[in-house]
Amino acid sequence: MSDTVKLSYNGKEYEYPIIESVIGDRGINIAKLRDETGLITLDTGFKNTGATKSKITYLDGDLGQLYYRGYPIEQIAEKSTFTEVMYLLLEGELPTREQLTQFEADIKKNSLVSEEMKQILKSFPRSAHPMGVLSTLTNALTAFNPHAVNVKSERDLHNAFTLLLAKFPVLCAWTYRLKLGLPLNYSNNRLDYPHNFYQMMFRKPTEDFEVDELVVDAIDKLLILHADHEQNCSTSTVRMVGSAHTGLFASISAGVSALWGPLHGGANQAVIEMLETIKDDGGDLQKWINKAKSKNDNFRLMGFGHRVYRNFDPRARVIKKVADDIFNKLGIHDETLEIAKKLEEVALSDSYFAEKKLYPNVDFYSGIIYRALGIPTEMFTVMFALGRLPGWIAQWKEMRMNGEPINRPRQIYVGSPKRDYVEIDKRN
Ligand code: CMC
Repeated sequence: MSDTVKLSYNGKEYEYPIIESVIGDRGINIAKLRDETGLITLDTGFKNTGATKSKITYLDGDLGQLYYRGYPIEQIAEKSTFTEVMYLLLEGELPTREQLTQFEADIKKNSLVSEEMKQILKSFPRSAHPMGVLSTLTNALTAFNPHAVNVKSERDLHNAFTLLLAKFPVLCAWTYRLKLGLPLNYSNNRLDYPHNFYQMMFRKPTEDFEVDELVVDAIDKLLILHADHEQNCSTSTVRMVGSAHTGLFASISAGVSALWGPLHGGANQAVIEMLETIKDDGGDLQKWINKAKSKNDNFRLMGFGHRVYRNFDPRARVIKKVADDIFNKLGIHDETLEIAKKLEEVALSDSYFAEKKLYPNVDFYSGIIYRALGIPTEMFTVMFALGRLPGWIAQWKEMRMNGEPINRPRQIYVGSPKRDYVEIDKRN
């Protein structure tokens, strides 16, 4: 296979080197393209554009494969814990027992959130969307930890990362408690990560607190499945904002905002809202499939399709099984789950979805599980953010440690050519 690509333009030939990958897409290095030819590339939505070389996550959209640091997601979801996955993403290797114990201890010692943060939280109305609240609180961490992270110091990086990993779940739980008007719970450093998060979310001062291990396991698994997904919209946002040497917390806050959108992490909320609408409308699935297919209708089947996967999203397969386990063991019959399963069946046997290679994605079943766990719909994307946090941090770290330049795309200008200013009285 040739290791250069030739471009011929205006009677001249140019040659651009191929960038090798370990697996998956190889790339053309066009760094000299503009200088040599005066041309730039245009790829709206970055459908064919690699923004970076990364060692963190690999996904093959055609085969439906996802690896964290080389480990297949199915093995990680079955055998690992979210805390171990955080370490793996950040440090590049699975931890030894000692490394894991130290990592957990480093997180726990940072778990107290400043009391002043509560004043910011309480200034929000209960109707505020938790993602807006979370983004604000994450950014506010900058004010309480104003020093920049010295990316040349491993200790400084580690301290900043463990601080954020410790405080972010508290902030996530607080957005939930605000929504329900419940008193705020603190971190309990005697507990491991999922049990601690569970108690911060659900423990009430008036009642004995019983832990449902099935629910704790499901939460841990969902967090693992969301932990990283290479250069998606929110991760690219984190890297883009961080490339201006903006601080870690502000960069992550921007990532939270990007994740909020219904085409990205907000899809888990949109899926439940869609399923409820279909149910309330009488459950005529074909009608909604037809709406999704119609060129004259903006409706899309939420939880279906993906920019990269043109096959089953491997996370959706694992999540569907978690959903079945949860519903069977809790003995819940959920009409929405039944509608979701039938909708999936109808869509997968429809030629429109087959031809466009639209399959269920991670968000199709995650919302159904969150709802069964008693989490309000508006909190679903916060749960996604909690899972994605280690991925965002690992990507921010990689970008800064690689010394990547400020991200600054170019454009093809198609507006008005140069013209002279018109005084206000002379305008029509
Ligand atoms: N329902 C109906 N048609 C669809 C859907 C859908 N969910 N998704 C894509 N299409 C059609 C689309 O209309 C277009 O048709 P045509 O070529 O005739 O114009 C074609 O498929 C390609 O769509 P696209 O919007 O160009 O593809 P994209 O790669 O830009 O969009 C997507 C990917 C995820 C934004 C899109 O599939 C979508 O809007 N899905 C629903 C929202 C959703 O579930 N998002 C969660 C993504 S997974 C979680 C995450 O990692 O963020």
